[in-house]
Amino acid sequence: QAGLRRQLIDIHEAATQYFQQALQSPEAARAREYISSRAITSETIAQFRIGYAPDDFNHMRDALGKHFNDETMRASGLFSSKEQNDEGRPTGNMYSRFRKRITFPICNEAGKTIAFTARALDSDEKSGPKYMNSPETPLYTKGQVLFNLDKAKSAIRTQDYALLVEGQMDCIRVFTSGIQPVIATSGTAFTEHQVRLLGRFTKRVVVNFDPDTAGANAAEKSLALLTEAEFEVRIVTLDGGLDPDRFVQEKGIVAYADALKTAKPHAEYLVDRARALFPQRTAEAKVKAVNFLLPHIRRLPSAIQRTQFVDDAAQKLGIDSSLMRQELQHAATHRL
Ligand code: CTP
Ligand code: MN
Ligand code: MN
Ligand code: MN
Ligand code: MN
Repeated sequence: QAGLRRQLIDIHEAATQYFQQALQSPEAARAREYISSRAITSETIAQFRIGYAPDDFNHMRDALGKHFNDETMRASGLFSSKEQNDEGRPTGNMYSRFRKRITFPICNEAGKTIAFTARALDSDEKSGPKYMNSPETPLYTKGQVLFNLDKAKSAIRTQDYALLVEGQMDCIRVFTSGIQPVIATSGTAFTEHQVRLLGRFTKRVVVNFDPDTAGANAAEKSLALLTEAEFEVRIVTLDGGLDPDRFVQEKGIVAYADALKTAKPHAEYLVDRARALFPQRTAEAKVKAVNFLLPHIRRLPSAIQRTQFVDDAAQKLGIDSSLMRQELQHAATHRL
């Protein structure tokens, strides 16, 4: 339905402008304060078209409703209602989905807004989740979009790598500090669709998720998909429990660029991770470490890579490498 898609692009442009203007209004004083407390400059606000969704249920609906038909309004994902159909579309009286939040447009490759992610100003329970996203719409499927790809893609091509971070704020901080080939997954593990999308620009990725359990798990899932698709993957873990946004703010972009240089090739990263998860020198711990690694090794597309990984891992774990190769064979047979 070309007509509806066109309308949805237009309503997202109108909503982007609505939020941008709202950020300049008197009632957005606290939002502006919050934004400056996070060291976001007015240049960055303009470049990323950051805005504010007011603490109001009806105003945006009334404003946009003058220019867009009911079908577009309901399909946009910008509004909720008490009643909804099976697809989650509001069927009753609509009100603003995003309220009292900082808004970040999520853009398609051409730089058009196709959805929003919005951060709560407060962290109390009443404010809901920290980030709230647009639902899936005819324009937007979460697992198919990479935040900032529109702005990063030419740098990704010319520098032949992409830096992958978790959050919008990480991505915006790193990008505006001068490292441009940066994109964000928005807190989820990479999907196959995103891998294919990125593969049009580069086959080399540096993953820099948050140095916490959630980040490590998301990194593991992402690099499984990436190595399977024959990407060259390296992983950075930042010191001090800081995410990229905070690391750059506290230590500076030069220190961050230095940290990126310490990125470990994925095999080395995984072996180190296996040893951190199962640090005991017992046979049992070694078995667990091997079992953690085998699925990753099996996914590698070339036999040379698999053999090298196995030899490397065996040496570091203190296991006989022919034994570990047997395990790999065994696992492969069982998979068939
Ligand atoms: N996220 C989300 N919903 C949440 C929490 C997180 O969609 N309730 C996504 C967001 O895209 C977020 C990313 O996961 O950017 C990473 O989460 P987290 O590290 O918790 O957030 P930060 O990006 O560090 O957010 P901030 O710096 O604003 O606190
Ligand atoms: Mn995180
Ligand atoms: Mn988190
Ligand atoms: Mn953060
Ligand atoms: Mn974070």
